[in-house]
Amino acid sequence: MKFVHVVGARPNFMKADPVYRSLAERGHEQVLVHTGQHYDALMSDVFFKALEIPNPDESLNVGSGSHAQQTAAIMSRFEPVVIAHNPDIVLVYGDVNSTVAAALVCSKLGIHVAHVESGLRSFDRSMPEEINRLVTDQLADILFTPSADGNENLAREGVAMEKVFLVGNVMIDTLIRYLPKADEEFHNLKKKLSIGEFGLVTLHRPSNVDNESIMLPMLQELDSLSMELPLIFPVHPRTQQKWAERLEQCNRNLHVTAPLGYLEFLALQKNARVVITDSGGIQEETTYLGTPCLTLRENTERPITVTLGTNVIIGRDWGLLRKYFHEALNGGHKKVGCIPLWDGKASERIANILTR
Ligand code: UD1
Repeated sequence: MKFVHVVGARPNFMKADPVYRSLAERGHEQVLVHTGQHYDALMSDVFFKALEIPNPDESLNVGSGSHAQQTAAIMSRFEPVVIAHNPDIVLVYGDVNSTVAAALVCSKLGIHVAHVESGLRSFDRSMPEEINRLVTDQLADILFTPSADGNENLAREGVAMEKVFLVGNVMIDTLIRYLPKADEEFHNLKKKLSIGEFGLVTLHRPSNVDNESIMLPMLQELDSLSMELPLIFPVHPRTQQKWAERLEQCNRNLHVTAPLGYLEFLALQKNARVVITDSGGIQEETTYLGTPCLTLRENTERPITVTLGTNVIIGRDWGLLRKYFHEALNGGHKKVGCIPLWDGKASERIANILTR
């Protein structure tokens, strides 16, 4: 069989990698398309290198733009590429603009689409990713869910359940594969950062970083918490562009860095006393690693990380942030359960289903 994989933004790369590997092991023909949604070396190339992903066969070089511009550019550049390759199935990952754009193109051409990480819902349509999830899942022919709540959401939306397969979490496949390497990396990193105990921070959601009345108090809180526990803060380009000046004014315990590579970041997540984030994937990785995760969002599309994992939804309640921050430092944070099918074998299950 012939498969086309579409990736474009940072969180796609660690999801596509294990599926590509599993299909390669079974001897299938594969084409890797990079839309260029993320293009900085630190947002893209470093992941290809660390995960040993082959260079893309096709690069669409769309770059940044408004949602409409970016989505449209991916669609118009992807269409001739997918027609030329004429695959049996196109695989799309997660919930970024590249995901929905490729799904739209394929469904109009009558090419089968498989969506990996299907069924997640935040029920918040002000979040661009929620629109991408809803549309992609309506268009997909095969839907792979990471957890049972995904199946429930799809059933409620009227998706035919014979198209839906609960396979587990492919990002955890990658985490499990690379954890030993990340552990090696941690020794170098510790020396480089000359740091003892630490917490880890990431912020890039438009609902936080594009909003001054939210971002300013948030930074003030982080600045203040870093006096109790040094915080490492690898800054996403979106955040850097808007807040470079303000970040420079933070105290020295808030270690502001450029975006980090996969292994370095994984090592930090594993060894942090606490992670404070608005990312989706990090809620899952910290749950697997057993690291307390405080999510600076009003909702999550990954509720299983709250019910069975280490995640707590903080919203913008700074009192709650402090409470859980101190609980994490005192070792009182809730303990993690085992999430069914987050076992390193999700991509094997996907490959078996696709080639059945
Ligand atoms: C995108 C995804 C988001 C995901 C995030 C992970 C969508 C709608 N959003 O958000 O779901 O969580 O990636 O990082 O698909 N920029 C650079 N260099 C790059 C890429 C972006 O400087 O390599 C800057 C550009 O100015 C751009 C801004 O960052 O305008 C935002 O990039 P964009 O891809 O639009 O969205 P993200 O915030 O990265």
